Amino acid sequence: MTKNIAILTSGGDAPGMNAAIRAIVIAGNHFQYKVFGFYHGYNGLINNELKPLKIKDVEGVIHRGGTLLKSARCKEMRNKTGITQAVNVLLKNKIDALIVIGGDGSFNGLLAIQAQWQGQVIGIPGTIDNDIDGTDFTIGFSTAVDTALSAIDKIRDTADAFERVFLVELMGRKSGQITFNVGISCAAEKVLSFENFNVQQEQETLAQIAEQIKTAKQEKHRSFLIVIAENLWPNGSEALAKKLTEITGIDCTLCTLGYIQRGGSPVAKDRILATKMGVSAVQAISESKSNIMIGEQNNTICFIPLSQAVQHNKTVNPFLVDAQDNILALSKQTDA
Ligand code: F6P
Repeated sequence: MTKNIAILTSGGDAPGMNAAIRAIVIAGNHFQYKVFGFYHGYNGLINNELKPLKIKDVEGVIHRGGTLLKSARCKEMRNKTGITQAVNVLLKNKIDALIVIGGDGSFNGLLAIQAQWQGQVIGIPGTIDNDIDGTDFTIGFSTAVDTALSAIDKIRDTADAFERVFLVELMGRKSGQITFNVGISCAAEKVLSFENFNVQQEQETLAQIAEQIKTAKQEKHRSFLIVIAENLWPNGSEALAKKLTEITGIDCTLCTLGYIQRGGSPVAKDRILATKMGVSAVQAISESKSNIMIGEQNNTICFIPLSQAVQHNKTVNPFLVDAQDNILALSKQTDA
């Protein structure tokens, strides 16, 4: 039986979204389905911005960051009118299955649609934050980590040359996945993230870092990199940089990496993950599955109920956190 499949990308774009769209289009054709794209995320669904997607439309996109379908955040999907309008557009276009590539906000939209619509709904986790439950990795995370790392390696060069102190703020919204993985990879002198910072201990943490900075600069003549998660420090990372400068009398400069982390050509790991998830989403549609997110655990594709994917139970690998805080941290480093 032929089916009409529609795809949309929503929320923060992530490198590898195009690779997923490509895989869906090719797999859809394999099953003789008609594939369409809604442009501009849920806004495009509500406003019926629908176009057919042919194999020629996805040629030469696998290596491109961003999303050829464009993306957006959509306030209308938070109210009943917007959801009803979205469902009406799906009915009007005789769509049988909707695939949404995005993060938790996008999946909540999909859950709201599913409550009012008989068609199949499938989520594919695409966000640099890697904060979706039920999948080891989300599409875009590995690229974001590599992008941040290559930027920080450059910051390290100039930091070393001047024996300077830099704070580098990383994205992740409320998740420390990027911060911890990048912090370990760049051998940061301090990793400050949700997993190891308690706001009750703000003053203690401040005093400890200030002490470490002084020792690094005055005794060891070395650079000092603090990798810090966005939305972590009370009043922001700039406030922390100022406070440290004040206490130590040493310039502590904030460098916010920001949107550079969302762009760029996806690394192989993200292209492969996106391709597997895209193909698997279409296979799931052919098997009449619905209301699921395509995940990957231990290198094996799995299907997770959408409602479970948005629970926010995912934690940074405890081994990583423990190793960083108790063995690798500057304060723990000693020659035997
Ligand atoms: O979810 C991806 C992400 O880049 C987060 O890391 C960040 O907090 C947020 O999006 C920024 O969102 P916006 O693009 O709406 O400013």
